[in-house]
Amino acid sequence: MRVLVTGGAGFIGSHIVRTLVSWGHEPLVLDALRPGAHTAGPPSLPEGVPCVRADVRDEQRVRKALRGVDAVCHQAAKVGLGEGVADAPDYVGCNDLGTAVLLAAMAETGVRRLALAGSMVVYGEGRYDCPRHGTVRPGPRAERDLAAGRFEPRCPRCGQDLVPGLVGEDAPADPRNVYATTKLAQEHLAAAWARATGGRAVSLRYHNVYGPGMPRDTPYAGVAALFRSALARGEAPRVFEDGGQRRDFVHVRDVAAANALVLGALDERERGGFAAYNTGSGEPRTVGDLARALATAHGGPAPVVTGEFRLGDVRHVTADSGLLRSRLGWKAEVSFEEGMREFAARTE
Ligand SMILES: NC(=O)c1ccc[n+]([C@@H]2O[C@H](COP(=O)([O-])OP(=O)(O)OC[C@H]3O[C@@H](n4cnc5c(N)ncnc54)[C@H](O)[C@@H]3O)[C@@H](O)[C@H]2O)c1
Ligand SMILES: [Zn+2]
Repeated sequence: MRVLVTGGAGFIGSHIVRTLVSWGHEPLVLDALRPGAHTAGPPSLPEGVPCVRADVRDEQRVRKALRGVDAVCHQAAKVGLGEGVADAPDYVGCNDLGTAVLLAAMAETGVRRLALAGSMVVYGEGRYDCPRHGTVRPGPRAERDLAAGRFEPRCPRCGQDLVPGLVGEDAPADPRNVYATTKLAQEHLAAAWARATGGRAVSLRYHNVYGPGMPRDTPYAGVAALFRSALARGEAPRVFEDGGQRRDFVHVRDVAAANALVLGALDERERGGFAAYNTGSGEPRTVGDLARALATAHGGPAPVVTGEFRLGDVRHVTADSGLLRSRLGWKAEVSFEEGMREFAARTE
């Protein structure tokens, strides 16, 4: 299968390209090589994989790149939390206008299969149960609670402590920032495209992806990269809040395999459909666990819990990735311990 991987020079995209090559497919890359995303120098792509340097908003270049393509794997996006509202136009431009241009070009050129890089951020705070009120949806945490070290969200009805659970794909969307909003809009655009053209689109809602090639020291770098950079400088990883924030750290090679599997399963006979699948390891961990695992693997100083916080961070969000496992037979192969050991030992 010939697959156009947008953002294929990025962290996740370049792993997808390598996986596609090793599974016998023929990937080609379209990537703007945006400076913020490429601080560590030029991307390393397998030999022979064509790479077009272009923006996904460039209709002509995109249309040309789609010639002879069977499917698109859309990874290009401006990622991270950004600076709030100031860079909203750039997020919306890259992520939503970019997706719209790509979809219009796919409609025109008859490409009917799409795998989209979705994100867990569409859910906002994770799933919680109150002993009295069942499943509840706490709103954003108040600054005064966070400043007082009260990090756990409480039941919006009775104020009781809540038990965090796993978020399913049917949970209502609750994007809490500009980036999350653009990731949700990408899915709606893909669903509209699928209905209008008879195409098939799948969004893989990735959890916290880590592994070799992860960008470091950019304002958008993931927490695993920040901890590793601190350890490399001989400093202790600084853990925000009390370190009890639950996440699901999924290895980039597993995410790449999920994409290759989905692309292979997008059957053109089942027309006009959109589906979303959570893509996590299924092994929830805390940010404190992450810092300790990296410090141990690196042999560096033990983490320091600082109590600092960022407004807008969610406390717990962990996905239920059972659907991807049962429908597509995908399974995360890299364990937390193994993945973190490998990650801590590398510098790129
Ligand atoms: N890293 C994570 O933990 C994570 C989690 C959930 C979802 N995602 C999604 O996965 C995808 C890949 O993310 P990543 O972590 O590899 O980020 P990345 O920044 O390493 O890769 C993104 C790539 O897209 C390119 N790009 C950005 N805007 C573009 C544009 N307008 N036109 C063409 N190319 C453009 C960049 O140059 C870069 O190479 C994104 O869609 C992101 O939203 C990532
Ligand atoms: Zn309650």
